[in-house]
Amino acid sequence: MAGMVLPHLHSPLFRLFYRKSEIQHLWSGRQEMAEAAENQAAEQSAEAQFRVEHYHWREIFRRFAPLLAPYRFRMLGTAVLLMLVGAAFAAVPLFPKYVIDTAIKTHGREDGIYYALAAAAVFLVVECGRTFLWYQAMSNVYLIQQSVVFHLRAQSFNHLQKLCLSFHSKFPSGFLYERVFGNSINALGTFIQSFMQQFATFVTGLFFSLFVCLYLSWQLTLVIIAGAACYVFVARKLSKRIYTKSKESAQAGMRVTEVIMDKLHGHKTIQAFIMEEQVQREFEDEIWTAQRKWLSSVMESMKLSLTTENISYLLTATVVVTGAYMVLDENMEIGTLVAFVGYQATLITVIQSLTNVYGQFTTTRVAFDQLFTVLDTHSDIEECERPVPVPAEVCGGLELRHVDFGYEPDQLILKDASLVIPARQTVALVGRSGCGKTTVTNLLMRFYDPSGGAVLLDGTDIRKLPLHDYRALFGVVLQDPYLFDTTIFENLHCANPKADEAAVIEALKKARAWEFVEKLPGQLRFRVGERGSRLSGGQRQRLAIARCMLLESRIVLLDEATSALDPESEAIIQQSFDALSHQKTVLIIAHRLNTLRHVDRIIVMDQGRVVESGSYEELLGKGGLFAELHAIATAGMIREARMAEAGFA
Ligand SMILES: Nc1ncnc2c1ncn2[C@@H]1O[C@H](COP(=O)(O)OP(=O)(O)O)[C@@H](O)[C@H]1O
Ligand SMILES: [Mg+2]
Repeated sequence: MAGMVLPHLHSPLFRLFYRKSEIQHLWSGRQEMAEAAENQAAEQSAEAQFRVEHYHWREIFRRFAPLLAPYRFRMLGTAVLLMLVGAAFAAVPLFPKYVIDTAIKTHGREDGIYYALAAAAVFLVVECGRTFLWYQAMSNVYLIQQSVVFHLRAQSFNHLQKLCLSFHSKFPSGFLYERVFGNSINALGTFIQSFMQQFATFVTGLFFSLFVCLYLSWQLTLVIIAGAACYVFVARKLSKRIYTKSKESAQAGMRVTEVIMDKLHGHKTIQAFIMEEQVQREFEDEIWTAQRKWLSSVMESMKLSLTTENISYLLTATVVVTGAYMVLDENMEIGTLVAFVGYQATLITVIQSLTNVYGQFTTTRVAFDQLFTVLDTHSDIEECERPVPVPAEVCGGLELRHVDFGYEPDQLILKDASLVIPARQTVALVGRSGCGKTTVTNLLMRFYDPSGGAVLLDGTDIRKLPLHDYRALFGVVLQDPYLFDTTIFENLHCANPKADEAAVIEALKKARAWEFVEKLPGQLRFRVGERGSRLSGGQRQRLAIARCMLLESRIVLLDEATSALDPESEAIIQQSFDALSHQKTVLIIAHRLNTLRHVDRIIVMDQGRVVESGSYEELLGKGGLFAELHAIATAGMIREARMAEAGFA
């Protein structure tokens, strides 16, 4: 970031104009400013506001239990299969021992070869059986893993859909994607798989191997145990550092995804403001940081394998020399020594895998913590415990009664705002930009709850109504309508799944959208692109209006719904709404004040307060804020008309 603010300080030309001391002075001054700005931005960043809880491992297992419960018998079967696999794995070093001690030494030239062949047959049957059982067990493990991942994904998406707008405005989509769907769930999936696969196999392998080793020679077993303890001690020490490094690397990786998502969404603005170089530098900074952190975490892991590998060689050397001494002393058969060399390798593999599972658990904990923190975040908009049902014949009268509200607790946007939108009337809300009009619609839709006062529907506090049924009363055209990256038909149909193609075309006609949709390739099947990027602003708005018209809603909210349209289209759409709004409650937020002559009532807001209300004529006669805004708008329109006459339009 600092690089963005201080680009010219690096240039050689800069040094020609300033002395070194001046550069240092400028540098430190600019640096301080940049750092202060950066600190302030960092405090407001999603990362800083996202307080990750730390969950105890017991809590983690408690949460997984219900996801695994349907598979308990399958898991039990898998565990048995994996234990057999572990036992077969631990039996491998017995094969050379038998061949050397029994076939070669005891039976010698005569029939030794038959014993060797028999041992080989047993070995092959056991080990081929092991691979077959492994295949069976692993297909179960993958099935269970995918099912758990599916449930976690579904649960997380469902939860994110329900979370309130204040949560979503704080945490951008890139941030949530990485924490909930990207890294986190992938890491969890891998952990579940390796836990099930390695735990059952290698715990059995460990016990079985130790048991056989003790039976063969307790002295050599002690040597192996001492070496293994050394191994575990070093691995634990070093894996703590790996955990810290990989956490840093994961966070930097997430930050890269956030930057990519943000910048790709803003590619048009970047090109328009020729910010490519600056954005490229910012991106390279982020990605370089992430890669450096990845490198340092990989180096830590390599250090661990280097150290542990050397411990295992030391152990082999110790086992061989101790064994050789015992064989020379005739305290041990030579085949037993060969078996022990095999066992120390097996045990090291087993312990290595178990330490890996442990290491993976510590790394995955970051993912668990992040995921569960999101899942445990409650929406600010809570359902009432015993909601009052919305009556079937609801009138649709809305009211804001002494409402206080701010997006941040210490910054009120609406201050003691009171306004009434009577049932089945058309009311307009006007005021300067930023005075809180959209905020009123946000409260009416219950995207947010007020901190003081109440929002009422037909006299009932909307917090007492079931949220879904309440929102179903509304048809809205939001100020920044969102179109999904799918066809025109799907974009409309999703608002009212009962509507057929004819109804969709009818709504498009009313919104003056059919005239352009008709000319598009594929018409209703035309894909609109991300956020409707393949359409013009006015076309997007007309589709949003058609989507609203497709609903049979009792209440209609239009927030600057026609702001991107020409006056002619606006007038025609207005007529369609008039025909449609019969028996409906309508709230219009408009900036072309002359389109409001027909409304029943106009409410004028200023700095979060209602300052005037009345009919169009009344308000003009009053000479207050409405008359003032109207005069400015009219002057603007006259100028536009004159320019049009002069051929500038
Ligand atoms: N999600 C948000 N978080 C914080 N502040 C917001 C948010 N949305 C709007 N605001 C602030 O609330 C004030 C009113 O905004 P708004 O209701 O959108 O005004 P308008 O009358 O133009 O529709 C503005 O000062 C704006 O900065
Ligand atoms: Mg607005």
